[in-house]
Amino acid sequence: MATKEIQAAGSTGLRGQITVPGDKSVSHRSVMFSGLCDTPVKITNFLRAQDCLSTVKCMQALGVKVEDRGDHLVVCGNGLHGLKEAEGIIDAGNSGTTLRLMLGILAGQKFLTTFTGDASLSRRPMGRVINPLSSMGARIVGRKNNSLLPITVVPQQDLLHGITYDMPMASAQVKSAVLLAGLYADRPTEVIEPYPSRDHTERMLRAFGADLDKSVNHIKIRPAKKLNAPECINVPGDVSSAAYFIVAASIIKGSDVLIKNVGINETRTGIIDVLRNMGADIEISNEHDVSGEPVADLHVRYAKLHGTEIKADIIPRLIDEIPVIAVAAVAAEGVTVISGAQELRVKESDRIKAICHEFGRLTDALTEKEDGLIIKGGSGFRIAKCDSCNDHRIAMSLAVAGAAGSGVFIDNADCVEISYPEFYSTLEMLEK
Ligand code: S3P
Repeated sequence: MATKEIQAAGSTGLRGQITVPGDKSVSHRSVMFSGLCDTPVKITNFLRAQDCLSTVKCMQALGVKVEDRGDHLVVCGNGLHGLKEAEGIIDAGNSGTTLRLMLGILAGQKFLTTFTGDASLSRRPMGRVINPLSSMGARIVGRKNNSLLPITVVPQQDLLHGITYDMPMASAQVKSAVLLAGLYADRPTEVIEPYPSRDHTERMLRAFGADLDKSVNHIKIRPAKKLNAPECINVPGDVSSAAYFIVAASIIKGSDVLIKNVGINETRTGIIDVLRNMGADIEISNEHDVSGEPVADLHVRYAKLHGTEIKADIIPRLIDEIPVIAVAAVAAEGVTVISGAQELRVKESDRIKAICHEFGRLTDALTEKEDGLIIKGGSGFRIAKCDSCNDHRIAMSLAVAGAAGSGVFIDNADCVEISYPEFYSTLEMLEK
């Protein structure tokens, strides 16, 4: 599918009940951490999308058995010290989470691993994990002064050293890499974040028996001899995938959508807080826990939105949702200012540039800032042909803008396979 056409939603808006696929962050971690244990783990609602399949292939290359049994996966590892040297180069595809967390796991291993990835991942900064892992004693080399793919982790004969790492940016991937390396260190490892980022690693490692203390933005992990997996992990629906329908239903007149089984871990629900601040009608019900993560149903109805201010402290809680929040801000009355979001420049694309350039074909509402955007809302979207920049979150946000406005043609639209293969069919189903 080179170009995808999205029709404008009719006058009745989006209506119906949906579930969204399994959480991408939790899916990655479920396979990685289960593969460090020596008992079989059943994983249900695993996200079968390209990014998480990159993690599966990576763990398989390192000697972990991963079987797809149709409605669930079974992962069978060889223990915390049971990974084996891969026979070839491992391709992390488009997935920053695969690469960065695996560098943490592999930093202390006695064998060599070399990673490659696609064009986007090959441009993304890896010094942010290689630097702290190197100060733990790991030897990791890469292109451009050890900052870019291809990257090789050199065999490690000694234990890594525990460090205290004051992170220069809020990043769950960096935090997770350092904590995972900390399992293989000679003393406790501590990580301090400027603002709290998603905490799936901490929750899941604890559930696997790791010795980990946590206050708001300070985590301490002690070295482990062994991890003990639960028999089953049930992955909650991904709030980052739900986000497209939360925004679409909020801004398209007449909409009424129920999204079942969505993860509402508070390190991920900044989008719900921001949209409610803007006047959105989002009802949360049926709250319960699934495999250590809070889950609920979200009922979203159309509402008149107004502009808001989004600052650095909340950014990590909605980092992946900023493109679709920008769509909501264009539809809202008044001005929205997003600041402290410079991390967007080093995602799958430079998302600030992609938003301004590609959404800019649909609206004149956007102004670029080095660390965010100024959006003068209320004028709506015209029809145009846009490019996804091969970034799944840009493609899905463009589709929401098209459905809310006058339609859109999206070039390079199939990149939604990275995180949400059924996205277009779900949108079309709600438009009928
Ligand atoms: C992720 C963390 C975030 C997010 C990414 C997934 C994770 O990246 O953007 O999509 O699973 O840990 P950073 O932590 O680097 O901001």
